[in-house]
Amino acid sequence: MARIGILTGGGDCPGLNAVIRGVVRKGVNEYGHAIVGYRDGWRGPLTNNVIHLTPDNTSGILHRGGTILGSSRTNPFKEERGVERVKENLDAEKIEALIAVGGEDTLGVADKLASEGVNVVGVPKTIDNDLSATDYTFGFNTAVQTCTDALDRLHTTAESHNRVIVLEVMGRHAGWIATYSGIAGGADVILVPERPFDIEEVCEHIRHRHQKGRFFSIVVVAEGAKPAEGTESLQEEATDSFGHVRLGGIGGMLEREIEERTGFETRVTTLGHIQRGGTPTAFDRVLATRFGINAIDAVSDGDYGKMVALQGTAIVRVPLAEGVGELKTLDPELYATAEVFFG
Ligand code: F6P
Repeated sequence: MARIGILTGGGDCPGLNAVIRGVVRKGVNEYGHAIVGYRDGWRGPLTNNVIHLTPDNTSGILHRGGTILGSSRTNPFKEERGVERVKENLDAEKIEALIAVGGEDTLGVADKLASEGVNVVGVPKTIDNDLSATDYTFGFNTAVQTCTDALDRLHTTAESHNRVIVLEVMGRHAGWIATYSGIAGGADVILVPERPFDIEEVCEHIRHRHQKGRFFSIVVVAEGAKPAEGTESLQEEATDSFGHVRLGGIGGMLEREIEERTGFETRVTTLGHIQRGGTPTAFDRVLATRFGINAIDAVSDGDYGKMVALQGTAIVRVPLAEGVGELKTLDPELYATAEVFFG
């Protein structure tokens, strides 16, 4: 029986509440722990903003998107006495171990804190699916479904108006969402950060379709995709406390270029945070629940400095450093599958 903390950090995603519910349900009912929720990511332990979590106040949240704990992109290593304050506040709450649910940034902080002696267990989360050592992160499946639904809708209007429609989706460093939804939604071109693109080649695919008598085209572009050369600066480049540029703008650039170069009427749709919101799919609810249960098991085993992960069909524990060491970029074989349908 111990006091265990939990926080959700970074960009939110569908399934976070399922993790919290799983941790609390098993932590309280089976292990007899007290679960302390920290609000707003790493800002919670920095400012000691807590809420006591119980099976009662975490019931009815399984299907809800977002996170009842709130989230932020706060980085304690960038704050004055940040690490000391986190440690002092954890001590003040008598927290034996902390479960950090997040992506590369949140878990990167967890990894560094682990090497400073804090007992942490990580749970991988990101709609981008770009964390190493886990086959999938929860949130990804929901985001792909949202993008696929959007593509189905865009198809009918593109076809009615003989237009090219560009759909910009999330994916800062990796094209998982673009490629999965592009394959599922029948995209004619998919552009991803891993493959800098040649705009003329994109236009050639579209012209080729028109020659075949298909007078509309669908282009899916990940927000982090870049032209092969002469990379244009997209927008004002605001950064967060992890130094990430706020992306968004490649879709608009493609809209202008495609219309100008091919003469075909072109429109862009940017899905943005719609991809992060709403109710998680059944797959994400199950994965997030399994991660939550395994995280509280890891804590109870004293197996710290680990991240729970999905490998094949099994949930395993890997060193946190393995999860955050290198981003998991797109599988070239998957992209090759998508390419069969280009043009
Ligand atoms: O990391 C997840 C993610 O959704 C990225 O795909 C996207 O670039 C970023 O978050 C957007 O972050 P924010 O909500 O802070 O603008």
